[in-house]
Amino acid sequence: MAANWTKDSWRGKPILQVPDYTDQAKLEAAEAELRNYPPLVFAGEARNLKAQLAKVAAGEAFLLQGGDCAESFAEFNANNIRDTFKVMLQMAVVLTFAAACPVVKVGRMAGQFAKPRSAPMETIDGVELPIYRGDIINGIGFSEAARTPDPNRMVRAYNQASSTLNLLRAFAQGGFADLHQVHQWNSDFVAGSAQSAQYEELSNRIGETLGFMEACGLTGDVVPQLRETDFYTSHESLLLWYEEAMTREDSLTGDWYDCSAHMLWIGDRTRQLDGAHVEFLRGVHNPIGVKCGPTSDPDELLQLIDILNPTNEPGRMTLIARMGVGNVETYLPKLIRAVEGEGKKVVWSCDPMHGNTIKSDSGYKTRPFDSILREVQEFFDVHRAEGTYAGGVHFEMTGQDVTECLGGAQAISDESLSERYHTVCDPRLNASQALELAYLVAESVKSGRWPQSGKRIAAVE
Ligand code: PEP
Ligand code: CO
Repeated sequence: MAANWTKDSWRGKPILQVPDYTDQAKLEAAEAELRNYPPLVFAGEARNLKAQLAKVAAGEAFLLQGGDCAESFAEFNANNIRDTFKVMLQMAVVLTFAAACPVVKVGRMAGQFAKPRSAPMETIDGVELPIYRGDIINGIGFSEAARTPDPNRMVRAYNQASSTLNLLRAFAQGGFADLHQVHQWNSDFVAGSAQSAQYEELSNRIGETLGFMEACGLTGDVVPQLRETDFYTSHESLLLWYEEAMTREDSLTGDWYDCSAHMLWIGDRTRQLDGAHVEFLRGVHNPIGVKCGPTSDPDELLQLIDILNPTNEPGRMTLIARMGVGNVETYLPKLIRAVEGEGKKVVWSCDPMHGNTIKSDSGYKTRPFDSILREVQEFFDVHRAEGTYAGGVHFEMTGQDVTECLGGAQAISDESLSERYHTVCDPRLNASQALELAYLVAESVKSGRWPQSGKRIAAVE
């Protein structure tokens, strides 16, 4: 066990980006309630994900992480969950088939509620109120009542996460993810587009392959991977009262796990070495992500890795670079050289969303598809030049037909952003844009093999 760590040792450390709960008794009651609730995930599942991420770190698989910027109570329904899951499956199939690479699927789902913000307060027409920090903390409406942090929202978030996870498990294992359904995963609104035609063609090829395998006796009964899939959950470990209440000791190993999700990450704004968020995550045994931005310092990153993964366990650490287009070559190589130079085993993943947020002329917070795409390309280029493995991508996306990011094959313009702009926080790729990116990523994965491993090169050529 990590030295001098307890699940509440974070409480003695400086903490950023959390609300001011004014009603202590209410907070304690909500925490007590959550502590009595069943875990959402099991330690063994978190270990399975770690083992799969260790394969990614070794260059033998690819990480696809995606979902909402912020889940909300208002947008919670079965269709939204199904559609995001569907587009993740589509993207995974594109990557698996086109790039001949196993894909580890991790949703930003079933717990991605709390948001770091750039200012603690918001002022509209001279009225100043606490900023909206995500539905697990307060409401988005601009009123004193909505914006006052309410600990009971943690209980509601737990319940929503629990039903979301229940449906995801049913989809992953109950037949929906059966590869024979590959045609059905296409969304209606994507139909007719260039990516849809490309996807149909790929589905047909998969259908033929399955037919051939069946003729050889390889059916879903013998190869369960054909009829079900592994799907994991993740969110930013930000609201530590919630995370602590969900933290349990695994009866098999005696190790501590944060059972609110399989994987947790630390955001760009809360990765201080002596801060509460690092303190909390160093003691739980889940796979951990760390966002790295232009302000990440190589030496500090190495210290962070030593704190979070002192035994250099592969699969434990995923470094999620979110540099912004045009910045990757400036900031990423020095991080790669420091980390790889010390022999640290990490997954390198690319979040091309958070460094590319702009305000459009019409005032919407948006992201140009072209910048997102180019940052992914820069990420692959840098890894190719450094001789390291670009192991994954991290997207904010939804299966819905939203108009939140500019461009893409649908050529979403500034004027059309207002048509279906539904996010409560950052702009997401819609299903069509997400699929389009998956093809481009598949191309990079296919062509951008890393030099040390002859194995993967042989697998695709
Ligand atoms: C996020 O992933 O939603 C986020 C806030 O990212 P970052 O910490 O990288 O800004
Ligand atoms: Co975001």
